Amino acid sequence: MKKVTKAVFPVAGMGSRFLPATKASPKEMMPIVDKPLIQYAVEEAVAAGVTDLVFITGRSKRAIEDHFDKAYELETELEARGKHALLQIVRDTVPSGVNCIYIRQSEALGLGHAVLCAASVIGDDPFAVLLADDLLDGEGAGSVMKQMVDVYNYNRCSVLGVMEVPREETRQYGIVSSERNEGDVRRVTAIVEKPDPAAAPSTLAVVGRYILTGRIFDHLRNLKPGAGGELQLTDAIASLLQEEAVLSYQFKGTRYDCGSKLGYLKATVELGLRHPETGAEFEAYLSARHGRI
Ligand code: UTP
Repeated sequence: MKKVTKAVFPVAGMGSRFLPATKASPKEMMPIVDKPLIQYAVEEAVAAGVTDLVFITGRSKRAIEDHFDKAYELETELEARGKHALLQIVRDTVPSGVNCIYIRQSEALGLGHAVLCAASVIGDDPFAVLLADDLLDGEGAGSVMKQMVDVYNYNRCSVLGVMEVPREETRQYGIVSSERNEGDVRRVTAIVEKPDPAAAPSTLAVVGRYILTGRIFDHLRNLKPGAGGELQLTDAIASLLQEEAVLSYQFKGTRYDCGSKLGYLKATVELGLRHPETGAEFEAYLSARHGRI
């Protein structure tokens, strides 16, 4: 039985909604309180049993490589100053037994193209895809990718992480239609990229979490550029589901769209309120501020 041990992190997008912050650094390096977005996604994948992290990088890739590399000078400095707690935080960025692989996407030709860049490393194995700008907080239910791996292990087919969205927002997502309208695991019958609200087959939207079988690569190779002239992962999944079963899974937890300014601010507030160092004082500050308005 093939396990999901590899995860692809496409981090080669333009990040144009966050310029100028993303001019010289990928948006996935933007922090929520004290951790970059990419680290939240890596921790979610590692909690799901992933041991090979495949980053699809573009321009300004250095920051991500450096983040997951050993930081000799910093570690020596922290050790010399007796800052042991901070030293541990720095050392824990990549848990032992986890490998990082970097592949360059020479041009940002779309999410489908970014995933296709990982084909030679993934081979025929099932693999996870995590878009780090979607921060998924599993809350009490734990890692959302772990929830999805459990669904994969039971059903042995591709799984798309989905959530209900307001109908007026369907234009921002890939939207799935499914066989039955009950339960959190459903068989997908169709998927369309960014439909108009009136034409959307449902309000079940794909967020940035996927488990895909290795068959997806053939479908990506045969794909013609879709919306915006980009190779769309959604189009390859639409083609895959003609050949094999694809499930949607309505995960337990909250999704923050950290690729948008508002979603990023919401995540910062919620995680700031829960942070052991800042939580209590931040809450007091927000209540006092609310009282002044
Ligand atoms: P987005 O649609 O959010 O695009 O990509 P973007 O370019 O990063 O951001 P905006 O819209 O310009 O602000 C979704 C995910 O796919 C990756 C991005 O890094 C992001 O994680 N991606 C997108 C690639 O890796 N390569 C691409 O060619 C396109």
